Amino acid sequence: MRKVAIIYTTQTGETEKMAAIISDGVKGAGGEAELLVMEDIADVSVLGEYDALAVGSPTQEAKEVPSATDFMDKLAVSDVKGKYAAAFGTYGWSGEAPYILALRLERECDMKMVAEPLKIQQGSLASGMDICRAFGMKLVFGE
Ligand SMILES: Cc1cc2nc3c(=O)[nH]c(=O)nc-3n(C[C@H](O)[C@H](O)[C@H](O)COP(=O)(O)O)c2cc1C
Repeated sequence: MRKVAIIYTTQTGETEKMAAIISDGVKGAGGEAELLVMEDIADVSVLGEYDALAVGSPTQEAKEVPSATDFMDKLAVSDVKGKYAAAFGTYGWSGEAPYILALRLERECDMKMVAEPLKIQQGSLASGMDICRAFGMKLVFGE
């Protein structure tokens, strides 16, 4: 069964909560899930041990937050390629971040995308639980 890294950054905790629900979805599907804070990953090569990566950032100023840009810059030049992947994030009114992250994962990191980018509006996680769990399942079973 797949080992999934759910890598996220958060400023006020919303995207962290979303990551935790996705993790539940992975485990519910029989996968192994690990939650990783993006800023704590000093060397992205540690991600080589995972089968699938979920990358999450809130949207700020119509894009991902700077630490997520930095993370993607490092991932793009690393040897971590060809994993199953998907992007997610919470947002206030537009929610561009997961789309930008997904494009970069696919085009710059040769990842195999298993789900459409998932954005959940801040304060709406309670009603988005099933969607987040289904996203986690796709990380385990998606091709
Ligand atoms: C400085 C700032 C800029 C933001 N810009 C956007 C934006 O351009 N589009 C949007 O949809 N939400 C925007 N938001 C809202 C956040 O994306 C939203 O609050 C998100 O759920 C925060 O997630 P977090 O708790 O994981 O940090 C902004 C929030 C802040 C504080």
